[in-house]
Amino acid sequence: MKKIAIISSSVRRGRNSHRVALYFMNYIVGNNLADAEILDLKEYDFPLFDERLRLQNDPSPGAIEFASRIRTADGVIIVTPEYNGGCPASLKNIVDLLYDEWRRKPVAISTVSDGPFGGTQVITSLQFSLWKIRAWTVPAMFPVIKVTEAFDENGVPADRKAADKRAAGFVSELLWCIEAKAKMD
Ligand SMILES: Cc1cc2nc3c(=O)[nH]c(=O)nc-3n(C[C@H](O)[C@H](O)[C@H](O)COP(=O)(O)O)c2cc1C
Repeated sequence: MKKIAIISSSVRRGRNSHRVALYFMNYIVGNNLADAEILDLKEYDFPLFDERLRLQNDPSPGAIEFASRIRTADGVIIVTPEYNGGCPASLKNIVDLLYDEWRRKPVAISTVSDGPFGGTQVITSLQFSLWKIRAWTVPAMFPVIKVTEAFDENGVPADRKAADKRAAGFVSELLWCIEAKAKMD
């Protein structure tokens, strides 16, 4: 069984995009598509980046554990809100923190907003940063508009049929890239 790490990026008080991370977790595990776990940046509570992990003399256990979870994941789903057209600092923080862990890692991005555009402006800059760090970004989208109407606090979608249909395409692209990579390793 392949392993997918779902990064929940928002550390904001009263955050809502975490609902989407919960949804993916339930969707993937519930449909027996892969093992999945949420890496919650709010729980990790990393300090503001001051050096890459591999260059730190005394890295925190949390950072080491996080790096190991990314390294051992076959693929990653990033759930990110859009803040002023970009990703939250908490997410850029961990992109920059790691290095080899990202290399050729299949990463699928789900963007979230409480408005009508589904955070679609964050994807360009985030894709570019992930490309720069040599991750393998998956050409699939899962924008979520009006997140509080679309998912409840437990990640239950208001329209399950529609959400699951979109998730099926999104997750299957990620799994395809995971399988393709496995053939080359
Ligand atoms: C600092 C900040 C900037 C935001 N900028 C945007 C934006 O550029 N585009 C957008 O569609 N929504 C924007 N929003 C609204 C967010 O999409 C909405 O609050 C979403 O729920 C944020 O995710 P979170 O609740 O998990 O933090 C912004 C919200 C915050 C807090």
